Amino acid sequence: MTVETHSDLELEFVQTAHRVLPAGGFGNLASDIVIREGHGGRVWDESGREYVDFLLGSGPMLVGHAHSEVTAAVQAQVPLGTTFFANNRHGIALAAAIVDAVACAEQVRFVSSGTEADMYAMRLARAFRRREKILKFEGGYHGMSDHSLMSLAPKHPGNFPQAIPDSAGIPARVADEVLVAPFNDLEAVEALIRAHHDELAAVIVEPLQRIIPPEPGFLEGLRRITAQYGIVLIFDEVVTGFRFAYGGAQQYYGVTPDLCTLGKVIGGGFPLAAIAGRADIMAHFDRALAGDAGFLPQIGTLSGNPIAAVAGLKTLEILRRPGAYDALFATGRALMAALADQLKRHGIAGQVIGEPPMFDVVFTDGAISNYRGVLKGNAERARRFNGKLRARGIMKGDTKYYVSLAHDEACVRHTVAAWTAALEELAAEGA
Ligand SMILES: Cc1ncc(COP(=O)(O)O)c(C=O)c1O
Repeated sequence: MTVETHSDLELEFVQTAHRVLPAGGFGNLASDIVIREGHGGRVWDESGREYVDFLLGSGPMLVGHAHSEVTAAVQAQVPLGTTFFANNRHGIALAAAIVDAVACAEQVRFVSSGTEADMYAMRLARAFRRREKILKFEGGYHGMSDHSLMSLAPKHPGNFPQAIPDSAGIPARVADEVLVAPFNDLEAVEALIRAHHDELAAVIVEPLQRIIPPEPGFLEGLRRITAQYGIVLIFDEVVTGFRFAYGGAQQYYGVTPDLCTLGKVIGGGFPLAAIAGRADIMAHFDRALAGDAGFLPQIGTLSGNPIAAVAGLKTLEILRRPGAYDALFATGRALMAALADQLKRHGIAGQVIGEPPMFDVVFTDGAISNYRGVLKGNAERARRFNGKLRARGIMKGDTKYYVSLAHDEACVRHTVAAWTAALEELAAEGA
């Protein structure tokens, strides 16, 4: 069904949301839309409008919304209890599946969100290294903790390695505990690490930063230099884990960190994330091994709950089936090629960057190897393009298309038609 305007029902929800929620929303997607349901690669809003969904709940729904097998697994568990604050067979099985799949993962600790996973991974590295500083990359996202919200999206980038807080309310001194480096600039990172190695606990990096792939040798270089000084290398695989390959970005790019964080896909659409890595580092979660001074207490009400665990386990089972990643990558490659082709046909300067499971267009001709390259893109044009796509039944986040196994040929056709029409309009408007 195509509905051009908001229904009275959706308008009422939007109005209530603006009364009871700050900025009218949950802090995620714009507040002018209320999603009613999702099936496969599509979602519907409360006005009945249908969208091809490239938001995928910000990434978890890699096998599609309401997948029948995931739903059945959850439905089987619900009558048996939903959370115990105790070990349960499904959480243990999920940890074992992660250890089997992910190269760096000798042990796993569950939490409920990627933010928590990154926060604990950094704390764990500090406990292990008995140093305090963290090196992160400008434009890199590691959730919402005080240390993570540094130079994520500075409007006016400063001088490296000075960290710029992204949020009000963060104690000023936290900025002194974070060093910021340019992504994909191994020379700059290496110089910073050599100068500060004795203060550094960890380097944390998204192996593919937002949608910017690592240049050949960059991750290998980070691995070499951190290993040389015994600095903990943390891959934030909250997005890339089980998405770029069954073994995540560390398998896809062939570089193994000391620790990684996982989220999104491993919870199958339920709240679950994890810190995984070397057993000697993870030992700091065990008072018997770490002693009182080295112990890192970590407790969470919903950690390892059986509902998220069965959803995650079933999702991983689906992903292990022959051809799953081939299909995902084929769809992503077809979409990326079609978007690049349409940009060219319409004479609009833009680059499609990312990897097949997640990508977007950046409206610039200039090189894009780091945050500052993306910043040179025409953000206003991207906003208008996204708006035109939304009106044509394409749901996506501001800066990313997430591809799913449930995006079928009809989804691809609809999307390419929407791109064509929206780019035609952009070109007619003088882009
Ligand atoms: C790379 C990365 N790390 C961490 C997070 C935070 O995860 P969560 O939203 O589950 O707290 C995200 C969320 O999008 C992410 O993309």
